[in-house]
Amino acid sequence: MSRVVWIDGAVVPAAEAKVSVLDRGFLYGDSVYEVVRAIDGKPFHLGPHLDRLERSATAIGLVLPPRAAIEAAIAETVSVAAEPDAYVRVVVTRGAGQIGLRPSLAGAPTLVILVQPSQPPPPELYRDGVAVVVVQLSRAGVDPRVKSGNYLPSVLGAAEAERRGAYECLFTDGVGRLTEGGSSNLFLVKGGMVSTPPEHAGLLPGITRAAVLRLCSAAGIPVEERPLWPIDARSADEAFLTSSIRGVLPIVRVDDSVLGNGRPGSVTTKIMSRYEEEMRSHA
Ligand code: PDD
Repeated sequence: MSRVVWIDGAVVPAAEAKVSVLDRGFLYGDSVYEVVRAIDGKPFHLGPHLDRLERSATAIGLVLPPRAAIEAAIAETVSVAAEPDAYVRVVVTRGAGQIGLRPSLAGAPTLVILVQPSQPPPPELYRDGVAVVVVQLSRAGVDPRVKSGNYLPSVLGAAEAERRGAYECLFTDGVGRLTEGGSSNLFLVKGGMVSTPPEHAGLLPGITRAAVLRLCSAAGIPVEERPLWPIDARSADEAFLTSSIRGVLPIVRVDDSVLGNGRPGSVTTKIMSRYEEEMRSHA
């Protein structure tokens, strides 16, 4: 089976998995989630992902099923899927209940684990890099550190990126500073220095972002967290984005500006291979 879902205590083919239309995840995006990559049946960085799921749930007052139950459900689903390289989506909604916004109307939380083959970008995108565009959208509203099911800004950003011939959008805050990608974190490289916006800039503290910050420090690559503006991105020597499924993906164009010589840069390439090594050695 290639796409399977854990729901109500059993793993079933995805097409058979059903959630109530009264579920608050469906009605309001009243949910939290994580996307984890599992290599050879072993979820990568699972601990930090579940820590973040707990922080997201606490931030919106959603009581999660016990961590051990979530871990067991993930293990069972990953094992049934038997994919060498799997996409694991862990979703917990506030559950179904009477229609109405008040969380007190909700019943028990709904836990869903969806596992399918991971579909990272094709190798040529890692080889040649991708284009990104700056958009006037942000994940403001709810604390952007919360990974909730409310992804409309990212959906609209993805539509705009596609319309403008780019792979990913870059969100900006109210004063125009860059925060992150629509579903990724952003890093720039200038004069050998790696920079990324700080967590308080209004972004999701990515698990891959944290791994890259750690890998840079370990490899002696200078790295800093500081506010970044669109002009910084357009004039960077190199840039890359990070996320759990994509790992480290080079950026070679920001809006109409080609970065460096238009090829993935040497610092990016070094970080990509360090990250790849860490992922492969985990399995
Ligand atoms: N998205 N920023 C946003 C808004 C994201 O949605 C994601 C991940 C990231 C990167 O976080 P991490 O390194 O922990 O994956 C940053 C996931 C992959 C998704 O929605 O599919």
